[in-house]
Amino acid sequence: MSTQSITITQPDDWHVHLRDDAMLTQVASYTARQFGRAIIMPNLATPVTTTALAAAYRDRILAATKGQPDFQPLMTAYLTDTIDANDLVQGHQQGVLTAAKLYPANATTNSAFGVSDVKTIYPVLEAMQKAGMPLLVHGEVVSHDVDIFDREALFIETTMEPLLKAMPELKVVFEHITTKDAADFVASSGDNIAATITAHHLQINRNDMLVGGIRPHLYCLPVAKRELHRLALRQAATSGSKKFFLGTDTAPHRIGDKESACGCAGIFSAPHALENYLQVFEEENAIEHFEAFASFNGPDFYRLPRNEKTITLEKKEQTVPEVIGEGDLAVMPYRAGEVLGWQFT
Ligand code: NCD
Ligand code: ZN
Repeated sequence: MSTQSITITQPDDWHVHLRDDAMLTQVASYTARQFGRAIIMPNLATPVTTTALAAAYRDRILAATKGQPDFQPLMTAYLTDTIDANDLVQGHQQGVLTAAKLYPANATTNSAFGVSDVKTIYPVLEAMQKAGMPLLVHGEVVSHDVDIFDREALFIETTMEPLLKAMPELKVVFEHITTKDAADFVASSGDNIAATITAHHLQINRNDMLVGGIRPHLYCLPVAKRELHRLALRQAATSGSKKFFLGTDTAPHRIGDKESACGCAGIFSAPHALENYLQVFEEENAIEHFEAFASFNGPDFYRLPRNEKTITLEKKEQTVPEVIGEGDLAVMPYRAGEVLGWQFT
């Protein structure tokens, strides 16, 4: 008999973009209804660069998730060339900042204030290493002469390896990995290196985005790669390795900003995050490893307690809405209009 329902420890989402203002109010509950905690990315239009800004943003998120009072946003700071290391470490020690995020300048949405050369902030990263504060990395090189499909693999040798050689104890999460190169790198590194994997990078390759017409709602960064990479990611996620954990990278953009001559990168995957991940584990005959990937590996890496509640998914078909929100706030959810085989209840 095939599995009809599955109950697991409540998962956390280790990579989330909640935005601000009306968009925050609209999207936050999709994350909060499923997950106990979420790592909140700091790339707002005005980036979250200080402990004070992170504390204020946390309050706005808590206000937007009043209906789910158990939800805990875990805040991050956005590293810049001029970030204040003392404020960062103090924010971590006070429990306001869980981690700090490295965006190479101009790598992705709202990253213009990112780091121009990682070496510039080595003293800051050394302070983080000493404090045990995790570094979350958007791992892509940004030089114009590097092909977009090669940017993650090249980042490993140009930036990640020298960084870890210089700071062998630094805790690093290689965020939203999209290549076999990154999966292999993380698997063969020490226990202080882990990675998040999105549901969409487990489900789509670059053909899904580009063949038969360009599908802007499947465009995100790092961009989906060729099939061999998707297969390697599926293997890594479902292998049972404690180095890989759930991070949706849900990143809502207004429909008009996606369906545009210069469309924004980001996939709004929060609404059915758990159903999509579970489908992958089912297809790979690895449901027994789903709970560790979704609910254990993340908190264990971050040295936080595992959640105590449980959640249940049932084998029941449901159709993803075509659109969420109205007017200027309308966003298209990942897999809009498609039928999913599982339902989070
Ligand atoms: C993210 C966003 O829109 O904030 N976009 C994306 O394609 N993933 C930024 C990011 O995580 O790169
Ligand atoms: Zn992201």
